[in-house]
Amino acid sequence: MVDDKRKFRNALGHFATGVAVITTRFDEKEPIGITVNSFSSVSLEPPLILWSLDDKSDTLPIFNAVNRFTVNILREGHQGISNRLARQGDHSLEGLPLRAGVNGCPALEDALAHFECDVYARHEAGDHIIILGKVTHFEYSEDGRPLLYHRGGYQGLATGTP
Ligand SMILES: Cc1cc2nc3c(=O)[nH]c(=O)nc-3n(C[C@H](O)[C@H](O)[C@H](O)COP(=O)(O)O)c2cc1C
Repeated sequence: MVDDKRKFRNALGHFATGVAVITTRFDEKEPIGITVNSFSSVSLEPPLILWSLDDKSDTLPIFNAVNRFTVNILREGHQGISNRLARQGDHSLEGLPLRAGVNGCPALEDALAHFECDVYARHEAGDHIIILGKVTHFEYSEDGRPLLYHRGGYQGLATGTP
């Protein structure tokens, strides 16, 4: 039985991931962004991705209300953006270089890749909700390296082959 949450989190942290910021805008309100590493590809046909959101997040009412969002894959050197958009109750994008995506959601100008999505489904899963997105538009950079996250810290991609 998994009764030690801290140890469970530590064990999960052994799975290295990229880091993404999910951006969206509800009505005419200020756009927001939240840092996540739960992003995953799901399906090619239809093109689906997912990420999961803590059901205690201040952003939950917004992500329950919107029909669209954008996944911004962070690149090396984006630790500052990642930390800033992981601050509790402070998900403003003010001052960050943004552009409007095709879907009307703001996108981080310098991200390694963007996936613009329509909300395809939301599933309650324990203390998180899984948000599935149907990709309506995507872009990526041919060069650049990703920001990685492993055991609670940021990492870069190793160079060379093993
Ligand atoms: C690298 C990293 C990955 C994270 N991944 C997730 C995630 O997948 N889902 C999530 O709900 N929060 C994740 N968080 C936490 C949120 O970014 C944020 O800290 C938290 O939601 C703040 O509380 P609030 O949403 O109530 O403002 C992550 C934080 C960091 C730094």
